[in-house]
Amino acid sequence: MGVLPTEEKKIFLNKLEEIRQKALEHPEEFWDEHARALDWFKQWDKVLDDKDKPSYRWFVGGKINASYNALDRHLKTWRKNKVALIWEGENGEVKKYTYRDLYVEVNRAAELLKNFGVTKGDRIAFYMPMIPELPIFMLAAARIGAIHTVVFSGFSSDALAKRINDAKAKLLITADGGFRRGKVIPLKEIVDKALDSTISVENVIVVKRTGTKVNMVEGRDFWYHELIEGIPRNVYVEPERLDANHPLFILYTSGTTGTPKGVYHSTGGYLVWVYWTLKWAFDPHDDDIWWCTADIGWITGHSYIVYAPLLHGLTSLMYEGAPDYPAPDRWWSIIEKHGVTIFYTAPTAIRMFMRYGRKWVDMHDLSSLRLLGTVGEPINPEAWEWYYEVVGKKRCPIIDTWWQTETGGFMIAPAAGIALPPLKPGSATFPLPGVDADVVDEDGKPVPPNTRGYLVIKKPWPGMLLGVWGDLKRYVDTYWSRFPGWYYPGDYAMRDEEGYFWILGRADEVLKVAAHRIGTMEIESALVAHPAVAEAAVVGKPDPVKGEVPLAFVVLREGYEPSRELEEELINLVAENIGPIARPAGIVFVRKLPKTRSGKIMRRVLKAIVRGEDVGDITTIEDRSALEELIEMFKS
Ligand code: PRX
Repeated sequence: MGVLPTEEKKIFLNKLEEIRQKALEHPEEFWDEHARALDWFKQWDKVLDDKDKPSYRWFVGGKINASYNALDRHLKTWRKNKVALIWEGENGEVKKYTYRDLYVEVNRAAELLKNFGVTKGDRIAFYMPMIPELPIFMLAAARIGAIHTVVFSGFSSDALAKRINDAKAKLLITADGGFRRGKVIPLKEIVDKALDSTISVENVIVVKRTGTKVNMVEGRDFWYHELIEGIPRNVYVEPERLDANHPLFILYTSGTTGTPKGVYHSTGGYLVWVYWTLKWAFDPHDDDIWWCTADIGWITGHSYIVYAPLLHGLTSLMYEGAPDYPAPDRWWSIIEKHGVTIFYTAPTAIRMFMRYGRKWVDMHDLSSLRLLGTVGEPINPEAWEWYYEVVGKKRCPIIDTWWQTETGGFMIAPAAGIALPPLKPGSATFPLPGVDADVVDEDGKPVPPNTRGYLVIKKPWPGMLLGVWGDLKRYVDTYWSRFPGWYYPGDYAMRDEEGYFWILGRADEVLKVAAHRIGTMEIESALVAHPAVAEAAVVGKPDPVKGEVPLAFVVLREGYEPSRELEEELINLVAENIGPIARPAGIVFVRKLPKTRSGKIMRRVLKAIVRGEDVGDITTIEDRSALEELIEMFKS
């Protein structure tokens, strides 16, 4: 789109820059003012405490409650009878909850949690399909100060057990099953398996969704519908007055080692951040119908299906099932049926719908839409154009939001709520107020325009993670050691001559498969657990729909031979160990992996080979012939 038109540029830069400058130069004043948009039981004594940096703490001394801010405060206004949540089941069933309805259900659920002896600081694990009871129980937990840890229901029993054990969850909330493409995923059965290798869980609450026959363990497992019957609709559970830095939730995410990290967020700073980022990026109005298509098992769902929309008193839509079920127009039919005005999804979904063709979109009246959003991975220009033209009919700006589980909310995104900059397909534009982002080289020096470097965030922001659950060292090492004093997200980026940010993908051993974050080391650990596998290295192979897919290079132990069956077995092992999302697209059996003379696997070289790129500098390689074999293999 070239150079910005001068007038437009001036208006935009002036407005955004003014706010950005204020936020960066006087952060304490800025956030002191902005945090007041929420209801606090007690005001903070200090906006930012950096005495234990990098464990920064925001709004210290403040007392707040997430459930109170999401629900109670709207009950005092006309929003009491406004629809807070529209839920559509995969089978077409629709349920609507007003703010009042949600308040009633959350209070009842909170009472139920109390009856199980759950108190402030206890961890509650969730393994749930996308049904209303999921946000209801999250808010109920938040109401009494219990810390929720939602595990995506596509993870395997092993992955679930690992997360439960790390968080030492006392209670688990699940469902009998979940619907996916009309089939039942037996969630309770997976839970039962996971609980064989956990000790902390005392009780399980089971929501009936699919009517599947399940095994209920006497004294441990209870049906939600039976318990809730006994709790009156007018029950009131006093929201706990929680410290601003009381953890609201733990969410496990993949990193560069074999075990997932328990990223945990505060209550006060997180809420302030998701509130303001939604306002700045999407400029929500009271008559908006907001639809974020993520699963609540990921951060996008936490922040932008549950917390931020409810803080704003918006109507948030939640859909249970597969995007293309029973037909590829399912999502577009939902937009038309419910009059969705803001639609927020991932590039991988857009690319999938591109393949189905525009006819499925054109079958529906999408004129209610006014803004589109994207998240999770870089959006390629073709997908951007298609999204803009076919879905948005060239009327709806695309808000490309760069952020992470760790950042709590959007970091770099067009600020439609301040002044929308001219958009460039594939660029998330500029950092939001309070985000001091830069692109630097290996030594931390800013790189010139149009040069790839590492993205860094140079100042703390209210939505930042509090830490890695139970592992301060890992928190410091992962995020604050690469460039001491700065937050390192692990992404490559570039700025153009106009200062626009372009995110260029992960700079570490983390993959984005259909926008899901998966650590290559997690997959490798699963593979080497097999008796036939001596060594494994996993890299991302480009994929036209999913962005990238895991491809595993495997060296077999003496006495084992490569075979189709073994390949299948290894692929299934990964799916069982982590979940179907981590399933390798293939196993490449090799004699040797390319290694440096000091024995480190050269993943960079493997990555270049599968991408058909030049392998670059290989002077440190230990065995050239193994590499040449590999290159030959990928030529054919
Ligand atoms: O690599 C970036 C990519 O997703 C990573 C964060 O993944 P996760 O914690 O699972 O959170 C995803 C949803 C916020 C980032 O480090 N990513 C996220 N958004 C974008 C993106 N890459 C490019 N453009 C984006 N808009």
